[in-house]
Amino acid sequence: MSIYVNSKKRTTGATLIIFGASGDLTSRKILPAVASLLDQDQLPNEFSVIGVARSPLGNDGFRNLVRESATNIESIQTFIDNFHYIQGDYAAISTYQSLVALLDSIERTRETGKSRLFYLATVPDLFSTITSLLGQSGLSRNDTSSFTRIIIEKPFGADAASARSLNSEMHRSFSEEQIYRIDHYLGKETVQNLLALRFSNAVFEPIWNRNYVNNVQITVAEHIGVGHRGGFYESAGALKDIVQNHMLQVLSLVLMEAPALMTAESIQNEKVKLLSAVEIPPIPDIVNRAVRGQYVAGVISSEEVKSYRQERGVSPTSQTETFVAMRLGVDNWRWAGIPIFIRTGKRMAKRETQVVMEFNRAPHLPFTGGSARQLGPNRLILRIQPEEEIKLIFGAKVPGQDYNIRSVAMDFSYADTFREVSWDAYERLLLDALLGDRTLFLRSDEVIKAWEIVDPIQHAFADPNFPLHHYAAGTYGPKESSRLLGASGHYWNNI
Ligand SMILES: NC(=O)c1ccc[n+]([C@@H]2O[C@H](COP(=O)([O-])OP(=O)(O)OC[C@H]3O[C@@H](n4cnc5c(N)ncnc54)[C@H](OP(=O)(O)O)[C@@H]3O)[C@@H](O)[C@H]2O)c1
Repeated sequence: MSIYVNSKKRTTGATLIIFGASGDLTSRKILPAVASLLDQDQLPNEFSVIGVARSPLGNDGFRNLVRESATNIESIQTFIDNFHYIQGDYAAISTYQSLVALLDSIERTRETGKSRLFYLATVPDLFSTITSLLGQSGLSRNDTSSFTRIIIEKPFGADAASARSLNSEMHRSFSEEQIYRIDHYLGKETVQNLLALRFSNAVFEPIWNRNYVNNVQITVAEHIGVGHRGGFYESAGALKDIVQNHMLQVLSLVLMEAPALMTAESIQNEKVKLLSAVEIPPIPDIVNRAVRGQYVAGVISSEEVKSYRQERGVSPTSQTETFVAMRLGVDNWRWAGIPIFIRTGKRMAKRETQVVMEFNRAPHLPFTGGSARQLGPNRLILRIQPEEEIKLIFGAKVPGQDYNIRSVAMDFSYADTFREVSWDAYERLLLDALLGDRTLFLRSDEVIKAWEIVDPIQHAFADPNFPLHHYAAGTYGPKESSRLLGASGHYWNNI
């Protein structure tokens, strides 16, 4: 049986309204999260869900989707009448009129209270239309006895300018406190553990700076390709899909200063300060700091996979990057001069998200044995997925008469250490939004800062002369990514 970590917190009665009810994210993540929360008795009896989309699903079709998402059908079955569906176009005011009527009826008959959580899990082009029509229909109002909140999926804008204008459009109907911008990486236990590791231990913080750290490496490697989302990926690419959000979030948690309190505001303030210090290179210099790649056919887990350009929905001459590696820097007292290497790619040899803090080598090795000279540096490896673990790599004497030293690992595994089951990121974030806890959501200025870092790189990549290196699926990306590190005598930590 799963044991939930913060099972003491209870949310009040509410209705969750999902825009994108017939979509991929809803069936793969949102409905399974709702079903699991119901199964774990984390939601009150006075809870309802309304799905909204154009497909003619009807209540029955939507309820079937819910049943398919549940691992425990019985717990869903007793609740299934509380799932409703509205068929309608998001650009039509009539859809919102139907929503007002259905909400009134549910809230009256089931006494759920007027608390409403809207979830925008739909195409980003419609985010501002939906928020504006919610506002016009009186559905964005917050009153003191209930709440009205809105979760918004990524991408939040396509650059800093569009993110600013989306913010101001949303702010016409919703206040900043009502908006919950989701980045599911922040819902992962190990990402949250970055803060626990750094700020609950006295041993790491004194060496967490330019005096001891030689370089930092963040890798988000995926072995999957673009699947059926080729059309979407063509307009995104690795930079917008992963770097702007997940990677810069992890980077800011790893490198930021200690927050005064574990509150949303305190943590978000520190993240914004850190992102503001990320060095933004002049556009002509980006070619020396960034490598972009695209996968061609290769072999993954003994299976042949096609090239990116052969995927459904992808142009045969596509220039979209499926891999990015970059050297970044942070201009502050703690990190000045320390290279921060990041890389992400699809169809890589392995699925792995990890952060590596590589420390300076010992200033002098008094051992005469040859192996000591080849000893690698101390590294602290924070693995985020698929396994959640922390490894410390250090030198140890090999048993025997000679003083041979070898790198060894000390391991901490989440799964082996804790009996408690980790929350799925969407379960955690959905419940946080119902509880009104914004700590793991993004504030508007954070999103803008992240775009300000990514925008010049997007600009450089848009130049047809910017090299696009091909790499075989099932490898660690183009060799130019190793050269990027090699230029300063560094190398990627193996994944
Ligand atoms: N899928 C993922 O793995 C994933 C991961 C992270 C973030 N996201 C984000 O989540 C959001 C949704 O992605 P998705 O992959 O689930 O998209 P999707 O499968 O294309 O679903 C889009 C949904 O929006 C509805 N819709 C679109 N236009 C509409 C309109 N004019 N009126 C009414 N309904 C409309 C569709 O309904 P009908 O088809 O019934 O019209 C469908 O339910 C996006 O912001 C995406 O970036 C997705």
